[in-house]
Amino acid sequence: MYTLSQIKAPIKQHLKEFEKEFRLAMKSKVPLLNTITRYMVKRKGKQMRPIFVFLSAGLCGEISEKSKRAATLIELLHTATLVHDDVVDESHKRRGMFSLNALWGNKIAVLVGDFLLSRGMLKAVENQDYDLLQIVSDAVKKMSEGELLQIEKARKLDIKEEIYFEIIRKKTASLIASCCATGAASSGASKDQVEKFRVFGENIGIAFQIRDDIFDYMKSSNAEKPSGIDIKEKKMTLPLIYLLNKSSIAERRKIIYQIKNKSKNPEIVAEIINKVKEINGLAYADKIMSEYRLKSLDFLNDFPEGEYKTALIRLVNFTTDRSK
Ligand code: IPE
Ligand code: IPE
Ligand code: MG
Ligand code: MG
Repeated sequence: MYTLSQIKAPIKQHLKEFEKEFRLAMKSKVPLLNTITRYMVKRKGKQMRPIFVFLSAGLCGEISEKSKRAATLIELLHTATLVHDDVVDESHKRRGMFSLNALWGNKIAVLVGDFLLSRGMLKAVENQDYDLLQIVSDAVKKMSEGELLQIEKARKLDIKEEIYFEIIRKKTASLIASCCATGAASSGASKDQVEKFRVFGENIGIAFQIRDDIFDYMKSSNAEKPSGIDIKEKKMTLPLIYLLNKSSIAERRKIIYQIKNKSKNPEIVAEIINKVKEINGLAYADKIMSEYRLKSLDFLNDFPEGEYKTALIRLVNFTTDRSK
């Protein structure tokens, strides 16, 4: 397994410039906003999305100024959605630090998320990057739909595998898809090629979210984010759906009853987690995740060897690795 810094090596300079632009975009004359965004840039994420943008651009042609703008736009949107996500999920930790809602409350967090979203959109308009705007706005729309569908299903608890895939395709995979699509578009790829890169990114994104959902079942494996909260939030992800599908009608009813009425009880949550593990629900989800990973690696197969292809293969494997 390669580390992110090894993967980033061929685009190191581009990432440096991206980061400068990203920090600049976060600035504001409103003192409170500036204090908050300064807090945010202190603890940056993995920056996987900008890396996907640059590597896709490099694989398609030449990495350009426009690639950098695409990376900035997407990281701004990503940051905005994480801020909003922590409000929605009432989560108090993000990237190993307190979330904005934990420190400043929901109202401010929602507004800061909106600020970041509009900064991204404005940047694209200023540069007349309408093709990027088109790709990314579509992702933003899908992300909201995915989140809302997830909320609806957490209320009704009638989720099927098919709907689970729709949720994760929309809420997570659409943005990673837009990284690869805008990366390709920024280096002048044809419409056809851009669409292929979108599908490539979508498959990675689906695999990525399945991994994230598996992780939630593995205690303290990831100190950056609390684990075991999906059931608590009544989020039924792939391992749990598998358990329900494998259970008798009576057992199924019991589990759904527990999620509906006792999901805040740690003992009940632990009991359900154990059942998922006993029936090999995590191995099942892992198998499905690998299928999506293979689909995206297959796509890369057709490209000639080179540093960007090599780095992308490593990034796909990094993104979907279970041990990190
Ligand atoms: C977290 O994404 C949100 C999900 C889609 C699960 P990342 O894990 O890429 O977040 P950061 O940017 O590195 O914090
Ligand atoms: C986050 O989904 C994905 C977004 C679209 C923001 P989750 O709520 O499952 O992700 P984490 O675990 O909080 O990062
Ligand atoms: Mg969350
Ligand atoms: Mg969420």
